[in-house]
Amino acid sequence: MTVPDQARVRWTELVDAIGDARTRYYQEDRPTISDEEYDALFRELIELETAHPELASGESPTQSVGGQRSEMFEPVEHLQRMLSLDNAFSLDEVRAWSDRVVKDVGTLPALLCELKVDGLAIDLVYRRGRLASVATRGDGRVGEDVTYNAEMISAIPQHLAGSAVADLIEVRGEIFFPTSEFERINTEQLEVGDSPFANPRNAAAGTLRQRIDRRREDLADVASRSRGSARETQRIERMSAELDRAVSRLAALRLVVHGLGEHSAANLRSQSEGYRILAELGLPTSDRVRVVDDLAGVEEYIAYYGEHRHDVEHEIDGVVIKVDDMAIQGRLGSTSRAPRWAIAYKYAPEVVRTRLLDIAVNVGRTGRVTPFAIMEPARVAGSTVSMATLHNADEVRRKGVLIGDMVFLRKAGDVIPEVLGPVVEVRDGSEREFVMPTRCPDCQTPLRPEKEGDVDIRCPNARSCPAQLRERLFHVGSRGALDIEGLGEKSARALLDCGLVVDEGDLFGLTAEDVSRCEYFTREPDPGEPDRPLTENARRLLEQIEAAKERDLWRVLVALSIRHVGPTAARALAREFGSVDAIAAADRATLAAVDGVGPVIAEAIEEWFDEDWRRHVVEQWRSAGVRLAQESTESGPALLAGVTVVVTGTVEGFSRDGATAAVQDRGGKVTGSVSKKTDFVVVGDNPGSKYDRALELGVPILDPAGFAVLLERGPEAAREIATIGSA
Ligand code: IVH
Repeated sequence: MTVPDQARVRWTELVDAIGDARTRYYQEDRPTISDEEYDALFRELIELETAHPELASGESPTQSVGGQRSEMFEPVEHLQRMLSLDNAFSLDEVRAWSDRVVKDVGTLPALLCELKVDGLAIDLVYRRGRLASVATRGDGRVGEDVTYNAEMISAIPQHLAGSAVADLIEVRGEIFFPTSEFERINTEQLEVGDSPFANPRNAAAGTLRQRIDRRREDLADVASRSRGSARETQRIERMSAELDRAVSRLAALRLVVHGLGEHSAANLRSQSEGYRILAELGLPTSDRVRVVDDLAGVEEYIAYYGEHRHDVEHEIDGVVIKVDDMAIQGRLGSTSRAPRWAIAYKYAPEVVRTRLLDIAVNVGRTGRVTPFAIMEPARVAGSTVSMATLHNADEVRRKGVLIGDMVFLRKAGDVIPEVLGPVVEVRDGSEREFVMPTRCPDCQTPLRPEKEGDVDIRCPNARSCPAQLRERLFHVGSRGALDIEGLGEKSARALLDCGLVVDEGDLFGLTAEDVSRCEYFTREPDPGEPDRPLTENARRLLEQIEAAKERDLWRVLVALSIRHVGPTAARALAREFGSVDAIAAADRATLAAVDGVGPVIAEAIEEWFDEDWRRHVVEQWRSAGVRLAQESTESGPALLAGVTVVVTGTVEGFSRDGATAAVQDRGGKVTGSVSKKTDFVVVGDNPGSKYDRALELGVPILDPAGFAVLLERGPEAAREIATIGSA
């Protein structure tokens, strides 16, 4: 069955949107979409992949836990994989989950209910009773080493209590701020001129994921070199105040444990017994855990905390229901992202009322003009909110809101809020209608829809509208594109404001001399020095710009800001064509025929290259040394051309994305479901049902060593050592 183009384009958009949301959430601790919007995207993706299983490739977020590791920290391999949880958004979905459990187990086993804490998952390893390492979840297999910081968190015991402590215990838990502490921190953020955290989870992540050790070193370094000038003293005072703040925030973090990984203790019968033992060891467990015998008990627990969620000292975004019996947990097993023996019930979002003070508009990277609500700050679901996107003029009309209205405002547990509609009853006649501007607020160009009938209106001045330029420049450096640390919103603005770049074409030609002409990139001269030296950030920016010239072709394609071309389509294009020139030379039909591209994206690419100034950007990048091709395509047909692989479980030495990329780099295809057409199923640790399916269908199965053979010597050699199951 062929997949309709629309479905393919939507799949690509969803994969990219979810990928982007995950980066912002897990790596940058600065989410831009609400949990609810994220969940909606994720569900749509699951539905799309259910309807078109061919789409569910290994790079789909439905196949992984989400989250990545930042290079800022040392990697720590978890002794056992850290999984995520599947979600239920209604009691019906909880029932559907329990029906599946009953189907597998025969009866409904005892269920343990506990709160879903709005915090950050961590992994603690105790060896001979002593805290050996603390790590964030990362990609589930390898996390970030935050042991240094964790030693300052008083809630984490450095030593386990009792005399009969097992040699090895890996404990999982949630690090969080109590609501009162979260509020105090956000007030403090505002006082010192920093933005408040969107929710307690981000506050906890932002606090834990800092290199406090480096700050200490920097402070010691500056203090030792200081000659005692007023400016130096001020700087030292500022640095030590920041350090004190960071340390006192760390100390205020709390921990609740919610699971065990690898351990050498006697086998546990149940999750609840595990909690009792962990409590005896001095680890903080929750006293709100309940074991119930039936679904009525689960529903009661959910209803109780639905009513009392603000009576808990920390924010909660739901309830976690786990099969209590460990042997049954083992029998039910896990998928590649979540256990089948647990489910998270998510509470419906909360709604508050506030005043809509104004509606302003914002111009995005592709010129889209988006109205947004400016509101009287309101507390909702644990944070203070004063802005919300309204998407487009149709949406403002559909919601029926007037400027000056009292409005209902909703947040899905946390993050970006949504205006639901006006409280019509309290209007006093002073409210006025929002009028969508007819000219771009940034460059005064008349606005228009790109095509007749589009709901979005755009600023057509793509080349020189300051807002679009700024957003595009910023996008070039974003993690999903060329990943240039230091090219943030502020530096993009400074580069443009100081006239150092006219557009993104000039970026790679920047020199130290150029940037030193802009005050933003320089600091006060040292005593006796005539010139303002470059700041550390400016130096890093230049280094990173240089490094970005060597990045993969797909990243260059994303950085060019071609509509619809996010990482997924860009990877497909890079794989197929191997260079920007080959893509520019390809006609629409050839582009559209590429798996993962299709006619909509093909048209956008063709239109993009039709503009001379855009081709000029490519030429400027080329002459500045940006690599616009990838080498592998010149070396004859790819090793795995035409080979379809499914990966299940954790393959040693690879992250899931890594295993997928290794196959794709050699021209092979990774899909998410096993069929007769699958050439190989690669089976790692904790494989899912795909392994059983491979056995059933008699598809060749490779273990990690076999996978290495496939990657190095190709399908023929791999087939010789593959095992084939029988039905
Ligand atoms: S159990 C294998 N229990 O929710 C089971 N997780 O959305 C994995 N979380 O990554 C987790 N409260 O960070 C569990 N009581 C709880 C939890 C909890 C919060 C977090 C955890 C997990 C995420 C999944």
